[in-house]
Amino acid sequence: MKAVTLTVEDTNRAAPAVPDRNIAMELVRATEAAAIRASSWVGKGRKNDADGAAVDGMRAFLSTVHFDGVVVIGEGEKDNAPMLFNGEHVGDGLGPSCDIAVDPVEGTSLTAAGRPNALSVLAVSDRGSMYDPSAVFYMDKLVAGPEGVGVVDIRNPIAENIRALAKAKRKSVEDIRVAVLDRPRHEKLIAEIREAGAGVHLLLDGDVAGGITAASYDSPVDLCVGIGGSPEGIITACAVKGLGGLIQGVLAPRDDAERQKALDAGHVLDRVLEADDLVRGDNTYFVATGITSGDLVRGVERTSRVIRTESLVLRSASGTVRRVISEHLPAKW
Ligand code: FBP
Repeated sequence: MKAVTLTVEDTNRAAPAVPDRNIAMELVRATEAAAIRASSWVGKGRKNDADGAAVDGMRAFLSTVHFDGVVVIGEGEKDNAPMLFNGEHVGDGLGPSCDIAVDPVEGTSLTAAGRPNALSVLAVSDRGSMYDPSAVFYMDKLVAGPEGVGVVDIRNPIAENIRALAKAKRKSVEDIRVAVLDRPRHEKLIAEIREAGAGVHLLLDGDVAGGITAASYDSPVDLCVGIGGSPEGIITACAVKGLGGLIQGVLAPRDDAERQKALDAGHVLDRVLEADDLVRGDNTYFVATGITSGDLVRGVERTSRVIRTESLVLRSASGTVRRVISEHLPAKW
């Protein structure tokens, strides 16, 4: 008998008369588990231990989710990553066939240093729909909310984008805030943002949180720009599809060897990757749980009675944005 591969959409179409399943409501247990596990390592200066604990927690809960997920963006190649390696199947192996991108600790240095904004994140979409960014470590990105669609463009000078976005948002340029990773490579960009009259929101780490904050409605950050990790670009694209904003990316090879690797992998360098290139279609799910408190969500809080987590749960097909606050019994962990 020929095997039939179902997509999440197929499964949803099979039962049109009833509200369909939102797989993200199950996936959030995996980021909660990862965040709780990682939180024991907050401020301890040991990023590998934090990451290892988060991976363990995430993997255990992913195995309960009714789907056949293949890790497209994971902890690395199989030989170096014992778990959640690229190509690994996760879930109960039944149900819809999906791509999954995981980042059990987005902000490992933030976690190790006990700084704000560390998250545990994952994103899911139909099988074969996620861009494979493994050839090039960095990507130049631009993220904005719905008002930025058709208004800002990564090809334009930053000052022009700031002016256009301010007009679209009916704000003055002075009130525009642009999130950028605080890195020496961004010195010129940061100077140009300030010269344009806008302010920067410097990120120590964590441009997934930076991008989501920029795309969120009513947020103090209007735009997120600059070079960060390529995998984080795909994960952010899944979230942006849920929020209805704009994301563009351009691969940014570090040297000639990486440039060649990208060409060998069939990438067209300098091409602007739009949201639909980063993750195809309108069936993406994104979940993030705070490890340490930040712009997006609160971090894991431990009281004598409960462990409290806060998560963001997004689904592009419905456009729902959920904030899930959970209380876990310490004795069960
Ligand atoms: P990790 O959690 O893997 O340390 O990533 C944190 C991060 O800040 C990402 O959010 C960002 O995309 C990337 O690192 C930037 O890389 P670099 O620190 O090399 O500039």
